[in-house]
Amino acid sequence: MFARVSVPLLFFFIFFYPFSVSAHEPHVTQEMGDLPMLPGHLSQEDITSRKLSFDQIFAAGKRLFDAKFNTLDGQGRPYATGNGKPTGRAPNLDMPMVRTSGPDSNACAGCHNDPRSGAGGDFVANVFVLAQVLDPITYSVDPDFSNERNTLGMMGAGPIELLGREMTRDLHRLRERAKAAAAASGLDVTLPLESKGVSFGSITARPDGTLDFSRLEGVDNDLIIKPFHQKGVVRSLREFTVRSVLLGTLLGLVFGASSLYLVLKVGLTVSASIPVAVISITLFKLWARLGGRDATILEHNITQTAGSAGESIPTNI
Ligand code: HEC
Repeated sequence: MFARVSVPLLFFFIFFYPFSVSAHEPHVTQEMGDLPMLPGHLSQEDITSRKLSFDQIFAAGKRLFDAKFNTLDGQGRPYATGNGKPTGRAPNLDMPMVRTSGPDSNACAGCHNDPRSGAGGDFVANVFVLAQVLDPITYSVDPDFSNERNTLGMMGAGPIELLGREMTRDLHRLRERAKAAAAASGLDVTLPLESKGVSFGSITARPDGTLDFSRLEGVDNDLIIKPFHQKGVVRSLREFTVRSVLLGTLLGLVFGASSLYLVLKVGLTVSASIPVAVISITLFKLWARLGGRDATILEHNITQTAGSAGESIPTNI
């Protein structure tokens, strides 16, 4: 009996065991026969050409949100540093799962699920923001650093963004009206700022074109409604925009070339993460001065990620 079972088993191990172990990815313990959760993705072309209906796109989004990603989909904390760049981790950070730091999960719906997928999360789904870039053990319990946040619901985030945009437009119109009235009359003009039944205090325009923001309520001096993130600092959830990817790619090219030059010339490279972030903020701010739209923090994030990824290509650091 024993011999009859063990001989095929022995063959099995000799022939198949080597295939189940990957020398390059020590944390992968994939069972044979597993498949990725997502067999494929929608193509942007099928969306823009309207080949797919809204319902189909929506269903695909829901599948993405609910999918419990496995390592065949690319899931895996050890190589994810949270900044989009496969940087090496300090030995004490190289652990497959750290419950105290929160961000370990297989699915968006793993946290955003209360009372249903896409909504908020239970206390246990709280996240220590930035724990992915700091030593999670020390910092997630350190009162000076830890920033524990509860999972937000995002039902209707799209309409909220559009509503914010309409209200911003109303407030900007009122600002321009006050400026024009002050210029025409030569007197200070104060107008109440209100949009869709919500009051944001008042603004005073002076004849010389300057503004007095001291009586604004609940809105920054730029009069832009920012409904997102914990401090209400983000106006849009759009992140992967053409301009942020383009700028990131350009900066990646420049930093990639300069890194290669530096490493061949002096044997040293520089990290481009911070320079790219600073340049991205500076360029988008200049663009905003010229009348364009300033970038959101999410767009800066994409630019920085693309730029620093470009920089790391020649040296792999
Ligand atoms: C480990 C838990 C967790 C997982 C997994 C998770 N989130 Fe979140 N999410 C949070 C928390 C916590 C916040 C609030 C962060 C804050 O307040 O700074 C949040 C905030 C958000 C927001 C901002 C909403 C707003 O109104 O400002 C969006 C959008 C979002 N998550 C989308 C996603 C998507 C898409 C995924 C999957 C790719 C995902 N989340 C996976 C916990 C999680």
